[in-house]
Amino acid sequence: MAENVWLLPLKDLDDDARAVKLGEIAELEVGEDQRRFVGDALRMMLVALEEESRHPFAVDANGAAVGVLTLQSGAACLAGWPDNDSVWLLRGFLIDRRHQGKGLGTSAADAAVRAAAKLTAALGGGQAGVVLSVNEANPAGQAAYRRAGFEDRGRYRGGDAGPQRTMYRAF
Ligand SMILES: CC(C)(COP(=O)(O)OP(=O)(O)OC[C@H]1O[C@@H](n2cnc3c(N)ncnc32)[C@H](O)[C@@H]1OP(=O)(O)O)[C@@H](O)C(=O)NCCC(=O)NCCS
Repeated sequence: MAENVWLLPLKDLDDDARAVKLGEIAELEVGEDQRRFVGDALRMMLVALEEESRHPFAVDANGAAVGVLTLQSGAACLAGWPDNDSVWLLRGFLIDRRHQGKGLGTSAADAAVRAAAKLTAALGGGQAGVVLSVNEANPAGQAAYRRAGFEDRGRYRGGDAGPQRTMYRAF
């Protein structure tokens, strides 16, 4: 994987550090044609900070936020998984458009699996891996996940932006 990234767990930061990081996150953008695949970075982080099941992370490279992602427990059915609790859901994943295409997305998806395994060890939820759904019309997303070791588990029609692929990686 081309570049190193660091996943910063926003819930673990003190208020000042979190405010600085949220300021950086507010500047993140995806390409216009990518907006249908993902929500607004800052809004997704603020929602996740308020919910016990969600663990929001800044994707940092060289000390600054270049992306975000969220791990959520008890919600795997949202990605077409047959039950909610046996695996983590990875959602709300984006890399700022000015930093895309350098391997950061691949590295962040890989790091997300390690972060999820740590959460399971700390919280005792018993999850076995990470699942996500990615739009069939989103080749960059599919490529990043595949390169990070996620395997295709078939088509999922639950999204409102067209058919998705369910992708999974065990710890
Ligand atoms: C998906 C995303 C996170 C990937 O981030 P990234 O840092 O560009 O990823 P990488 O640099 O690791 O590239 C991963 C792969 O995507 C390919 N790729 C990058 N941009 C692409 C594009 N616009 N079209 C097609 N492929 C693209 C890369 O070439 C690479 O594939 P390869 O190794 O087979 O060449 C980023 O494109 C993004 O934020 N997209 C908008 C939000 C989104 O779609 N999130 C996922 C929702 S499930």
